[in-house]
Amino acid sequence: MILSKGNGKFLAGLFSNISSRRHKELPPAAETDKQIEQLKIPVHLGVIMDGNGRWAQKRHLPRSAGHRAGAENLKELCRNCGYYGVRYLTVYAFSTENWSRPDDEVHALMELFVEFFERYDPELEKEGIRVRFSGDINSLPEEIRAVCAKAEKNSLNRNRMDLIIAMNYGGRREIMHACQKIAREVLDGKIFPKDISETTLSGHMYIPDIPDPDLVIRPSGEQRMSNFLVWEAAYAEFWVSDTLWPDFGFDDLTEAFRDYTGRDRRFGGLSKPVNK
Ligand code: FPP
Repeated sequence: MILSKGNGKFLAGLFSNISSRRHKELPPAAETDKQIEQLKIPVHLGVIMDGNGRWAQKRHLPRSAGHRAGAENLKELCRNCGYYGVRYLTVYAFSTENWSRPDDEVHALMELFVEFFERYDPELEKEGIRVRFSGDINSLPEEIRAVCAKAEKNSLNRNRMDLIIAMNYGGRREIMHACQKIAREVLDGKIFPKDISETTLSGHMYIPDIPDPDLVIRPSGEQRMSNFLVWEAAYAEFWVSDTLWPDFGFDDLTEAFRDYTGRDRRFGGLSKPVNK
Protein backbone atom coordinates (compact mmCIF):
# COMPACT_ATOMS: atom_id res chain seq x y z
CA MET A 1 0.00 0.00 0.00
CA ILE A 2 1.54 3.30 -1.07
CA LEU A 3 0.41 6.59 0.32
CA SER A 4 1.51 9.66 -1.53
CA LYS A 5 -0.75 12.62 -0.97
CA GLY A 6 -0.70 15.13 1.85
CA ASN A 7 0.49 13.66 5.10
CA GLY A 8 -0.16 10.16 3.86
CA LYS A 9 3.46 9.06 4.04
CA PHE A 10 3.65 9.97 7.67
CA LEU A 11 0.30 8.47 8.46
CA ALA A 12 0.78 5.25 6.52
CA GLY A 13 1.55 3.33 9.66
CA LEU A 14 -1.17 4.94 11.67
CA PHE A 15 -3.49 2.63 13.50
CA SER A 16 -1.83 -0.36 11.95
CA ASN A 17 -4.03 -2.76 13.82
CA ILE A 18 -7.16 -1.59 12.09
CA SER A 19 -9.16 -4.53 10.86
CA SER A 20 -9.42 -4.48 7.09
CA ARG A 21 -12.78 -6.25 7.25
CA ARG A 22 -14.87 -3.13 6.84
CA HIS A 23 -12.21 -0.89 5.40
CA LYS A 24 -11.40 -0.41 1.81
CA GLU A 25 -7.81 -0.41 0.60
CA LEU A 26 -6.32 2.95 -0.23
CA PRO A 27 -5.90 3.23 -3.99
CA PRO A 28 -2.49 2.11 -5.26
CA ALA A 29 -3.17 2.74 -8.94
CA ALA A 30 -1.38 5.68 -10.59
CA GLU A 31 -4.52 6.52 -12.48
CA THR A 32 -6.49 6.81 -9.29
CA ASP A 33 -3.73 8.91 -7.72
CA LYS A 34 -3.99 11.27 -10.68
CA GLN A 35 -7.71 11.66 -10.17
CA ILE A 36 -7.14 12.20 -6.47
CA GLU A 37 -4.55 14.90 -7.14
CA GLN A 38 -7.29 16.93 -8.80
CA LEU A 39 -9.55 16.88 -5.78
CA LYS A 40 -10.02 19.98 -3.69
CA ILE A 41 -9.45 19.02 -0.07
CA PRO A 42 -11.21 20.90 2.73
CA VAL A 43 -8.83 22.48 5.21
CA HIS A 44 -11.33 21.82 7.98
CA LEU A 45 -13.66 18.84 7.75
CA GLY A 46 -16.53 18.19 10.16
CA VAL A 47 -18.10 14.75 10.50
CA ILE A 48 -21.31 13.80 12.28
CA MET A 49 -20.64 10.17 13.15
CA ASP A 50 -24.22 8.94 12.83
CA GLY A 51 -25.71 5.49 12.31
CA ASN A 52 -23.92 3.39 14.92
CA GLY A 53 -27.20 2.20 16.43
CA ARG A 54 -28.66 1.13 13.09
CA TRP A 55 -25.40 -0.58 12.17
CA ALA A 56 -25.66 -2.66 15.36
CA GLN A 57 -29.36 -3.31 14.97
CA LYS A 58 -28.86 -4.72 11.48
CA ARG A 59 -26.45 -7.24 13.00
CA HIS A 60 -28.63 -8.03 16.05
CA LEU A 61 -25.94 -6.53 18.27
CA PRO A 62 -26.32 -4.14 21.21
CA ARG A 63 -26.05 -0.45 20.37
CA SER A 64 -22.77 -0.30 22.29
CA ALA A 65 -21.27 -2.63 19.65
CA GLY A 66 -22.24 -0.06 17.03
CA HIS A 67 -20.46 2.67 18.98
CA ARG A 68 -17.38 0.49 19.32
CA ALA A 69 -17.38 -0.09 15.55
CA GLY A 70 -17.86 3.66 15.16
CA ALA A 71 -14.80 4.34 17.32
CA GLU A 72 -12.77 1.92 15.19
CA ASN A 73 -13.90 3.82 12.16
CA LEU A 74 -12.80 7.11 13.68
CA LYS A 75 -9.27 5.74 13.54
CA GLU A 76 -9.84 4.87 9.90
CA LEU A 77 -11.12 8.37 9.20
CA CYS A 78 -8.01 9.91 10.79
CA ARG A 79 -5.87 7.77 8.55
CA ASN A 80 -7.84 8.69 5.44
CA CYS A 81 -7.84 12.39 6.31
CA GLY A 82 -4.08 12.17 6.86
CA TYR A 83 -3.73 10.65 3.42
CA TYR A 84 -5.63 13.55 1.89
CA GLY A 85 -3.89 16.22 3.94
CA VAL A 86 -6.92 17.49 5.85
CA ARG A 87 -5.51 19.91 8.43
CA TYR A 88 -8.40 20.03 10.92
CA LEU A 89 -10.91 17.27 11.54
CA THR A 90 -13.82 17.84 13.92
CA VAL A 91 -15.95 14.83 14.82
CA TYR A 92 -19.24 14.88 16.72
CA ALA A 93 -18.73 12.32 19.45
CA PHE A 94 -21.31 13.21 22.10
CA SER A 95 -23.87 15.98 22.04
CA THR A 96 -25.39 17.94 24.91
CA GLU A 97 -28.63 16.13 24.00
CA ASN A 98 -27.13 12.63 24.10
CA TRP A 99 -27.48 12.53 27.91
CA SER A 100 -31.16 11.70 27.33
CA ARG A 101 -30.16 8.23 26.06
CA PRO A 102 -30.48 5.21 28.39
CA ASP A 103 -27.91 5.17 31.19
CA ASP A 104 -26.21 2.00 29.96
CA GLU A 105 -25.63 3.50 26.49
CA VAL A 106 -24.22 6.73 27.93
CA HIS A 107 -22.01 4.69 30.24
CA ALA A 108 -20.77 2.51 27.36
CA LEU A 109 -19.93 5.63 25.33
CA MET A 110 -18.00 7.20 28.21
CA GLU A 111 -16.04 3.99 28.70
CA LEU A 112 -15.25 3.95 25.01
CA PHE A 113 -13.79 7.48 25.14
CA VAL A 114 -11.53 6.55 28.04
CA GLU A 115 -10.41 3.39 26.28
CA PHE A 116 -9.84 5.11 22.95
CA PHE A 117 -7.37 7.69 24.23
CA GLU A 118 -5.62 5.36 26.64
CA ARG A 119 -5.08 2.85 23.88
CA TYR A 120 -4.22 5.01 20.92
CA ASP A 121 -2.43 8.07 22.21
CA PRO A 122 1.06 6.62 21.58
CA GLU A 123 0.10 6.05 17.96
CA LEU A 124 -1.39 9.51 17.68
CA GLU A 125 1.83 10.90 19.06
CA LYS A 126 3.94 8.97 16.58
CA GLU A 127 1.92 10.39 13.75
CA GLY A 128 1.74 13.99 14.92
CA ILE A 129 -1.97 14.22 15.59
CA ARG A 130 -2.94 16.84 18.12
CA VAL A 131 -6.10 16.04 20.06
CA ARG A 132 -8.41 18.83 21.18
CA PHE A 133 -11.85 18.84 22.73
CA SER A 134 -14.67 21.18 21.93
CA GLY A 135 -17.74 21.35 24.13
CA ASP A 136 -18.98 21.84 27.66
CA ILE A 137 -16.03 19.90 29.03
CA ASN A 138 -16.31 21.37 32.54
CA SER A 139 -19.68 19.66 33.00
CA LEU A 140 -18.33 16.19 32.21
CA PRO A 141 -17.60 13.63 34.94
CA GLU A 142 -14.18 14.10 36.50
CA GLU A 143 -12.71 10.92 35.02
CA ILE A 144 -13.61 12.03 31.50
CA ARG A 145 -12.29 15.54 32.11
CA ALA A 146 -9.00 14.04 33.22
CA VAL A 147 -8.78 11.94 30.03
CA CYS A 148 -9.50 15.02 27.90
CA ALA A 149 -6.91 17.12 29.76
CA LYS A 150 -4.28 14.42 29.45
CA ALA A 151 -4.89 13.83 25.74
CA GLU A 152 -4.71 17.58 25.06
CA LYS A 153 -1.60 18.13 27.16
CA ASN A 154 0.27 15.15 25.70
CA SER A 155 -0.45 16.22 22.15
CA LEU A 156 0.07 19.97 22.44
CA ASN A 157 3.16 20.10 20.23
CA ARG A 158 1.96 17.88 17.41
CA ASN A 159 1.23 19.69 14.20
CA ARG A 160 0.37 17.44 11.29
CA MET A 161 -3.37 17.31 11.94
CA ASP A 162 -5.70 18.55 14.68
CA LEU A 163 -8.35 16.02 15.68
CA ILE A 164 -11.09 17.94 17.45
CA ILE A 165 -13.51 15.81 19.42
CA ALA A 166 -16.84 17.55 19.94
CA MET A 167 -17.71 16.14 23.33
CA ASN A 168 -20.71 17.19 25.40
CA TYR A 169 -20.99 19.64 22.53
CA GLY A 170 -23.99 21.68 21.46
CA GLY A 171 -23.78 24.52 18.98
CA ARG A 172 -26.37 26.57 20.84
CA ARG A 173 -24.63 26.00 24.14
CA GLU A 174 -21.35 27.11 22.56
CA ILE A 175 -22.95 30.35 21.39
CA MET A 176 -24.52 30.81 24.84
CA HIS A 177 -21.13 30.33 26.51
CA ALA A 178 -19.55 32.81 24.09
CA CYS A 179 -22.23 35.37 24.99
CA GLN A 180 -21.63 34.80 28.71
CA LYS A 181 -17.87 35.34 28.26
CA ILE A 182 -18.47 38.54 26.29
CA ALA A 183 -21.02 39.79 28.84
CA ARG A 184 -18.42 39.35 31.59
CA GLU A 185 -15.92 41.36 29.56
CA VAL A 186 -18.52 44.10 29.11
CA LEU A 187 -19.14 44.15 32.88
CA ASP A 188 -15.39 44.34 33.47
CA GLY A 189 -15.20 47.31 31.11
CA LYS A 190 -12.95 45.46 28.66
CA ILE A 191 -15.30 45.83 25.72
CA PHE A 192 -18.21 48.12 24.81
CA PRO A 193 -21.46 46.57 23.50
CA LYS A 194 -21.19 48.67 20.32
CA ASP A 195 -17.85 46.98 19.56
CA ILE A 196 -19.24 43.44 19.67
CA SER A 197 -19.00 42.06 16.15
CA GLU A 198 -19.23 38.69 14.43
CA THR A 199 -15.46 38.48 14.83
CA THR A 200 -15.90 39.00 18.59
CA LEU A 201 -18.35 36.10 18.71
CA SER A 202 -16.04 33.88 16.64
CA GLY A 203 -13.19 34.75 18.99
CA HIS A 204 -15.15 33.49 22.00
CA MET A 205 -16.11 30.07 20.64
CA TYR A 206 -14.63 26.94 22.25
CA ILE A 207 -11.73 26.68 19.74
CA PRO A 208 -11.33 30.13 18.23
CA ASP A 209 -7.94 29.62 16.59
CA ILE A 210 -9.02 27.28 13.81
CA PRO A 211 -10.78 28.16 10.56
CA ASP A 212 -14.48 27.50 10.07
CA PRO A 213 -15.29 24.10 8.57
CA ASP A 214 -15.34 23.96 4.79
CA LEU A 215 -17.29 20.75 4.55
CA VAL A 216 -19.56 18.84 6.92
CA ILE A 217 -20.29 15.20 6.19
CA ARG A 218 -23.22 13.33 7.68
CA PRO A 219 -23.41 9.59 7.07
CA SER A 220 -26.56 7.50 7.64
CA GLY A 221 -28.91 9.51 5.47
CA GLU A 222 -30.19 12.06 7.98
CA GLN A 223 -30.32 15.56 6.54
CA ARG A 224 -29.89 17.81 9.53
CA MET A 225 -27.12 19.51 11.48
CA SER A 226 -28.28 18.32 14.92
CA ASN A 227 -26.76 21.29 16.77
CA PHE A 228 -23.27 20.67 15.31
CA LEU A 229 -21.01 23.71 14.75
CA VAL A 230 -24.04 25.97 14.44
CA TRP A 231 -21.99 29.17 14.38
CA GLU A 232 -18.90 27.90 12.55
CA ALA A 233 -20.65 25.94 9.80
CA ALA A 234 -22.81 28.85 8.61
CA TYR A 235 -21.15 28.65 5.19
CA ALA A 236 -19.87 25.09 5.20
CA GLU A 237 -20.80 22.80 2.35
CA PHE A 238 -22.96 19.89 3.52
CA TRP A 239 -22.72 16.35 2.18
CA VAL A 240 -24.98 13.47 3.18
CA SER A 241 -24.29 9.80 2.62
CA ASP A 242 -26.55 6.79 3.10
CA THR A 243 -23.65 4.74 4.44
CA LEU A 244 -23.88 4.14 8.19
CA TRP A 245 -20.96 5.63 10.11
CA PRO A 246 -19.11 2.38 10.99
CA ASP A 247 -19.02 1.51 7.27
CA PHE A 248 -18.01 4.97 6.05
CA GLY A 249 -14.65 4.33 4.41
CA PHE A 250 -12.09 5.72 2.02
CA ASP A 251 -14.36 5.51 -1.03
CA ASP A 252 -17.14 7.41 0.74
CA LEU A 253 -14.70 10.13 1.80
CA THR A 254 -13.34 10.35 -1.73
CA GLU A 255 -16.88 10.68 -3.08
CA ALA A 256 -17.55 13.50 -0.63
CA PHE A 257 -14.35 15.29 -1.69
CA ARG A 258 -15.21 14.78 -5.35
CA ASP A 259 -18.59 16.38 -4.82
CA TYR A 260 -17.02 19.16 -2.75
CA THR A 261 -14.52 19.83 -5.55
CA GLY A 262 -17.39 20.65 -7.88
CA ARG A 263 -19.13 23.01 -5.49
CA ASP A 264 -19.17 26.72 -6.24
CA ARG A 265 -18.63 28.41 -2.88
CA ARG A 266 -19.95 31.92 -3.26
CA PHE A 267 -20.46 32.91 0.40
CA GLY A 268 -23.45 34.94 -0.67
CA GLY A 269 -21.55 36.67 -3.47
CA LEU A 270 -21.20 35.86 -7.14
CA SER A 271 -18.91 33.22 -8.55
CA LYS A 272 -17.72 35.13 -11.63
CA PRO A 273 -17.90 38.70 -12.88
CA VAL A 274 -21.20 39.09 -14.69
CA ASN A 275 -21.75 40.98 -17.94
CA LYS A 276 -23.64 44.15 -17.29
C1 FPP B 1 -24.74 8.66 16.68
O1 FPP B 1 -25.20 7.42 16.20
C2 FPP B 1 -23.45 8.45 17.35
C3 FPP B 1 -23.19 8.82 18.63
C4 FPP B 1 -24.16 9.49 19.49
C5 FPP B 1 -21.88 8.52 19.23
C6 FPP B 1 -20.68 8.70 18.36
C7 FPP B 1 -19.53 8.13 19.05
C8 FPP B 1 -18.60 7.34 18.50
C9 FPP B 1 -18.52 7.03 17.07
C10 FPP B 1 -17.60 6.77 19.42
C11 FPP B 1 -16.22 7.19 19.08
C12 FPP B 1 -15.77 8.41 19.67
C13 FPP B 1 -14.60 8.50 20.32
C14 FPP B 1 -14.05 9.83 20.61
C15 FPP B 1 -13.87 7.33 20.81
P1 FPP B 1 -26.55 6.82 16.76
O2 FPP B 1 -26.25 6.01 17.94
O3 FPP B 1 -27.53 7.91 17.01
O4 FPP B 1 -27.00 5.92 15.57
P2 FPP B 1 -28.52 5.64 15.12
O5 FPP B 1 -29.06 6.96 14.61
O6 FPP B 1 -28.36 4.64 14.04
O7 FPP B 1 -29.25 5.13 16.32
